[in-house]
Amino acid sequence: MDFHAKTVYQIYPKSFQDTNGDGWGDLPGVTSRLDYLKNLGVGYLWLTPFYPSPQRDNGYDVADYTAIDPRYGTMADFDNLAREAKARGIGLMLDMVFNHSSTEHQWFQKALAGDRKYQDYYIFRDGKPGEPPTNWVSKFGGNAWEYVPALKKYYLHLFDVTQADLNWENPAVREELKNVLRFWKKKGVSGFRFDVVNLISKGAFENDNEGDGRRFYTDGPRVHEYLKELVADSGIGGMVTVGEMSSTSLDNCIRYSNPAEHELSMIFSFHHLKVDYKDGQKWQLMPPDLRALKKLFKDWQEGMTEGGGWNALFWCNHDQPRIVSRLGDEGQYWKASAKMLAAAIHLMRGTPYIYQGEELGMTNAHFKSLEDYRDVESINYHHILRGEGKSEEETLEILGARSRDNSRTPMQWEAGKNAGFTTGTPWIAVNENHTAINAAAEEKDEDSILAFYKKLVQLRKENAVIAEGSIHILSTPDSLLAYEREYKGTRLLILCNLTSEPINLPENHTDWQGQGWTKFLGNYEGIEAPLRPYEVLALKKQS
Ligand code: GLC
Ligand code: CA
Repeated sequence: MDFHAKTVYQIYPKSFQDTNGDGWGDLPGVTSRLDYLKNLGVGYLWLTPFYPSPQRDNGYDVADYTAIDPRYGTMADFDNLAREAKARGIGLMLDMVFNHSSTEHQWFQKALAGDRKYQDYYIFRDGKPGEPPTNWVSKFGGNAWEYVPALKKYYLHLFDVTQADLNWENPAVREELKNVLRFWKKKGVSGFRFDVVNLISKGAFENDNEGDGRRFYTDGPRVHEYLKELVADSGIGGMVTVGEMSSTSLDNCIRYSNPAEHELSMIFSFHHLKVDYKDGQKWQLMPPDLRALKKLFKDWQEGMTEGGGWNALFWCNHDQPRIVSRLGDEGQYWKASAKMLAAAIHLMRGTPYIYQGEELGMTNAHFKSLEDYRDVESINYHHILRGEGKSEEETLEILGARSRDNSRTPMQWEAGKNAGFTTGTPWIAVNENHTAINAAAEEKDEDSILAFYKKLVQLRKENAVIAEGSIHILSTPDSLLAYEREYKGTRLLILCNLTSEPINLPENHTDWQGQGWTKFLGNYEGIEAPLRPYEVLALKKQS
C-alpha cells in the first residue's frame, strides 16, 4: 500500500501563501510552493476546505461542495495546482465536510423557504422556543439545536449554529455526497480527508443526563454501513482516504481502516492529544500526563496492528496548538525537542502527517488580547469562560494554550515582512518569532528541524521496517517513550526522552547497549548514557 511509505503534508491554504496581496492565502500560493514540498519529499498534500463558504468556521462551513471560493482563486487555479503537483509526483487529498453544510448552502436555504424535500436533507424537529428537542451541547459551546421561528422547528448543529447537520438517513443526501466525490475524482485528485465522519449516523434523540450527548451520535449505529456505501458507490475504493474520528474507540477504528472492511485507508484519533486536558476538558489546563500518553500509544499502535487497522500519525493540525509549545520546549531545547517529537511519531506504524510549519518548529501564537483571535470556537469559549467567572487574564492564558488559532498563524517562509506570507495585511497576525524561525534560514542549515523532517520522510521511503514493520511499545519509566519495530530480521529501537531531565536507560534493556546495534538516527552527537534532554536515539540491528 503506497500510503505506508509516504508522508502527507497538511496545508491550511488561508495561512500558507498569499499571491495577490489581500492577506489571504490562495491556491496559486500553494502552487508557487510546490518545489519546497517536493524537496521535503512528501507524497500527498491534504488541503483543508477552499470551497465557497461564509467562513464562520474557516471553510468547514461549506456553501457549495464543487466550486472554489473566489478568495482562494478559480477552478483553473485548482486544475493548475493539481497538474503541477502531479508533475512533481505529489497527490492531492481534499477535505470533505459531510457531517454538516453551511446554512448558506442552497439546500438549507431551500429548507428554510419551506421546501419539504430539502428540510429532509437536515435534522429538523418540531418544537417550541426555549424547549430544544434534547440537551445536547454543541462542540463550539451552547445547545446544539437552533430554533427557526418561521418553521416552528429546530435544526441540529453539532458545531457552529451556521453548520447544520446533514440527514444521512435520507438516501437522497447520500447520493448528493457521492456526486461530490465523483466530481473531484474526475478532476484527478488522489484522495480525501473526511471531516468528523464518525458523527454522521445519529442514534436516539434523547437527553443525555451523564454527558453532552456525544454517546448518541459518536460511531453511531449506521456509520459503518454509510461509509461502505459511500466508498463503493462513488468509486473511490482505490484512493487514499482518512477519516477524522471524534472521541472514537479502538474497535471502531479497526473497522474503519481494516482493508477487508472497504471503508477508509486510515483514521485520525485524538485521545493522545487530550492528555493535558484536566478532567477531559479542553478548556482546563493541566501539564501533560506522560504515562497516559504512553499507554495510549501502546493501546493504539499495538491494538490497530493486531486488528489490521491503520493509524494516521500526527501531533499537529489546524485544530491543535503547536506541539513544540505543548510537549516540547520553546526555549533552550527548542530544536532538540521538536526533532525528538517528530521522530517519536514518524518512526511508528502508520502514515505520518506534517502540518504546515511543524517542519520548522513553529510555536504557539502568544496572542495578548481577544482582538487577535479569529477562531469561532475560541471566541465563543472566551465568553463562556468569562461567564463562569474567570478573569480576563486567566481566560487569555487558557486561550493561549488551547486556541486553534495557535496553529493558524501564517506560514513562516522568511525573516522579512509578514514572514513572506503576504505583501498586504494578513487575516491573522504573523508570529513575531518569524525573524528567527523560518524556512529560508532552515533550508541553509544542515542541522535544522526542517533538515531532520526531510530525513524522516526519506527514511520511511527507504526502510521497510518503518513502513511495514511490527511495533512493540516497551514498558519504561514515564519520561521515556521506547518502542521496537521489526521487519524480516531488521530491528529498530527508538528511545525518546520526553523531558528536559537526563534519563538513565533501564537496566533490563541491556540487549541494546552493545551487540550489533548501530545508530540509525538521533538529535545529538554519538551515543551516551544517560539520554540527554529531549534526546531521541534510534538504533538498528540486522539479524
Ligand atoms: C473538524 C475540523 C475543524 C472543524 C470541525 C467542524 O474537527 O478539523 O476545523 O471546525 O470539524 O467542521
Ligand atoms: Ca490571496
